[in-house]
Amino acid sequence: MKPTSKPNNPCFSSGPCAKRPGWTLDALKDAAVGRSHRSKIGKAKLAEVIKTSKQILGMPADYLLGIVPASDTGAIEMAMWSMLGERPVDVVAWESFGSGWAADCKSQLKLKDLRSIKADYGKLPDLAQVDWTHDVVFTWNGTTSGVRVPNGNWIPADRQGLSICDATSAVFAMEMPWDKLDVVTWSWQKVLGGEAAHGMIALSPRAVKRLEAYAADRPLPKIFQMSKGGKLIAGIFEGETINTPSMLCVEDALDGLKWAQSVGGLSGLIARSESNLKAIEDWVAASGWAAFLAEDKAIRSSTSICLKVQDPSYLALSADDQAKHAKTIVSLLEKEGVAYDIGSYRDAPAGMRIWGGATVETKDIDALLPWLDWAYGEVKKTF
Ligand SMILES: Cc1ncc(COP(=O)(O)O)c(C=O)c1O
Repeated sequence: MKPTSKPNNPCFSSGPCAKRPGWTLDALKDAAVGRSHRSKIGKAKLAEVIKTSKQILGMPADYLLGIVPASDTGAIEMAMWSMLGERPVDVVAWESFGSGWAADCKSQLKLKDLRSIKADYGKLPDLAQVDWTHDVVFTWNGTTSGVRVPNGNWIPADRQGLSICDATSAVFAMEMPWDKLDVVTWSWQKVLGGEAAHGMIALSPRAVKRLEAYAADRPLPKIFQMSKGGKLIAGIFEGETINTPSMLCVEDALDGLKWAQSVGGLSGLIARSESNLKAIEDWVAASGWAAFLAEDKAIRSSTSICLKVQDPSYLALSADDQAKHAKTIVSLLEKEGVAYDIGSYRDAPAGMRIWGGATVETKDIDALLPWLDWAYGEVKKTF
């Protein structure tokens, strides 16, 4: 039966993600538009984003946090380009983004001493294979497979290499063991529902040391440069951005952070995301056709929640037909205005991906789930 009630907010995209509940353009009314980002007011707003992010995330006092160009991609690439090559590198990858970083290490950075430790969609590689005398690049949460690392226990405190972590779909929704992480990157467009285009990069004291002691033998574009003449460019970590940021985006990031504080800070944000996962887990447990891509609960993401179809009559279809039907489910739900952008990522197995980050209300997930059953029923009539 076609459900009668719809989610209040049909935005379940995995990026840009849903704005926080109650968001309107009014949230941007105090933006320092038309002002220099180096003016007193501009710099104060940038510094406030850094300070409040550190506070909410409980970052150690000796870690630095900077706002950098080109979103999370810019942040992780600047880390890789400026730090890698000093020692062998292990890239751990289990979905599209991690695989992209592995490919860049090989084909762009042309690192000689490089290992890729990989697993297929839905699984995590054997983390015991990582050699911690090497630098290690990995994503905390694989957004396109819905698989996350369960914790930081696999990262030794006395590692010799740096742990470089793309945590864009994890930060603000998952506990980050900061002492195990030397570089952490994310963007504003994910868990707090900010605008895209700006990245954040957190550095441990060991990462700063690397930047000051090592100069990679490769050209570095200005937007990747974090040190000069063997000294960290400290201003980047106080709000003096490398190039011009959007003050509208900055205002929006501040709005997201204020909202984060209003829902109880990090523990409140994590609880909201976990509650979204729980709602879908309860539904999957009773479903005759849907299953998680990440079968193991211990590694299942609470933000990018990836579903597959496990109905035998669907699985008997060709891969092309399966993909076609999955797309039909997604477009039916979009047409009904109940869910936007929930198709699985272009390189991932056919299915659905529902964002369960902190800005998504569990009652909206609850309202969506009967619609998934309805849409699958509609599609199933055709095979
Ligand atoms: C794990 C991961 N890394 C990197 C990116 C790229 O982020 P951005 O487009 O903000 O640069 C994404 C975007 O979804 C992601 O999920």
